[in-house]
This record gives sequence, C-alpha cells and structure tokens, in this order.
Amino acid sequence: NPLNGARYLLAAHLPRQLPPDDGREVAFAGRSNAGKSSALNALTGHNRLARTSKTPGRTQQLVYFQVADGRHLVDLPGYGYAKVPQDLRSHWLDFINGYFRNRQSLAGLVVVMDIRHPLREYDRQMLAYATDRGLPAHCLLTKADKLGRGQQSQALLTVRRQLAAQYGDSVGVQLFSSESKQGVDEARAVVAGWLAL
Ligand code: GTP
Ligand code: MG
Repeated sequence: NPLNGARYLLAAHLPRQLPPDDGREVAFAGRSNAGKSSALNALTGHNRLARTSKTPGRTQQLVYFQVADGRHLVDLPGYGYAKVPQDLRSHWLDFINGYFRNRQSLAGLVVVMDIRHPLREYDRQMLAYATDRGLPAHCLLTKADKLGRGQQSQALLTVRRQLAAQYGDSVGVQLFSSESKQGVDEARAVVAGWLAL
C-alpha cells in the first residue's frame, strides 16, 4: 500500500497555516457525513488516521496527512451541514475557493459522495473548481455496502453518464465502501498515481 506511510501533519484554519506550496497533494471533498474521513482511513490502511464521527460537520479545517516527503492527503471540511452558522460557512467557502484557485501543489480532487445521494449542489461546485483549472477529479460512491449489487450498478451507471456528459473523461467514478473495503485498491491506485508515488 503506497499510502500506508500517512501520518497526521497539521490542521489549517487559515491560508497562511498551509504547508509550503511546493509538493503534491490530493484533496478529499464531500458533504458532511458522506464518509471522507472513513475513506481516508481505508485508503491509508489506518483505522484512526482521520477522525470519523457520527456527528456531521466535525472536521472544521483543512487537515493534512503526509504520505511521503512533500506528498500530502488533505481532508477538506465537509459541506452542506445546515447547523454551521452563516458567517462561518462563508469563511469556509472563501477559504476553499481560494485554496482551489491558488494551490499549485494540488494534483487531483477526490469527491466522496454517499451512493444514495450522489452529485448534489456542492459536489458539483467542487468538481467545477477542479475541472475549471484542468485538474483531474475522481468520485467515490461510498457506503456502497448499503445497497444491493443491482442498485450499485444502476447508481454507478447513472452518475458515470452525468459526469461524462458534463466533464468528458476528466472526472472518474467508482463504487466504494470503507466498511467492506470494496473499491479501495482501485481508488488507492488513482490517488497514488496523482501523488506520483
Ligand atoms: P465530516 O467530517 O463530519 O464531514 O464527515 P465525513 O465525511 O468525514 O464522514 P465520516 O467518515 O466521519 O463518516 C460518517 C459516518 O458514516 C460514520 O458513522 C461512518 O461510520 C459512516 N460510514 C462512512 N463510510 C461508510 C461506508 O462505506 N459504509 C457504511 N455503512 N458506513 C460508512
Ligand atoms: Mg471527516
């Protein structure tokens, strides 16, 4: 597992707290409670690398994990959580927006979506941020274990068609489950490739 060396590095609340912008990093975005932190844990093979919780909106900063020298995974704050106060929400939107616009190290975006609620408004916003800059993106339809095989395939096909229509082949999509580990190897290969590991 090329991501197994991952270690917690830092949590950034402000742009100036980000590590030097001279490496390679892959960002993980997704609605609150979609399963970002769980996906990070599954991909790195660590049970408690990223904090997971049953309380949505828990990850409130950009959390950096270092995989190797200058190679990072970034857990972005979950979006779409209604109870976050408006001023805090606009602070985050500004921060994330600026991050996507300016971050040279950013090599690719993983969008984690609950397979039962794919491609919501903010998911599309994140995909637009990445693809507008010419960055590749990859969608994980996670919690696939919650659906039967037939429904999984149906969801995958639908999302794949929508992505192809809008983004051509710059955005990939796959089934995923942090619970059953379905799709973990496939996703890990994408992330490791972007990090040039
Ligand atoms: P925030 O940091 O709050 O935005 O959430 P997150 O996107 O990091 O979600 P997290 O990984 O904390 O998971 C949220 C809840 O979903 C937890 O209760 C997890 O155990 C559960 N969960 C995550 N991934 C899966 C999965 O693949 N299958 C199932 N069944 N449950 C999952
Ligand atoms: Mg989280």
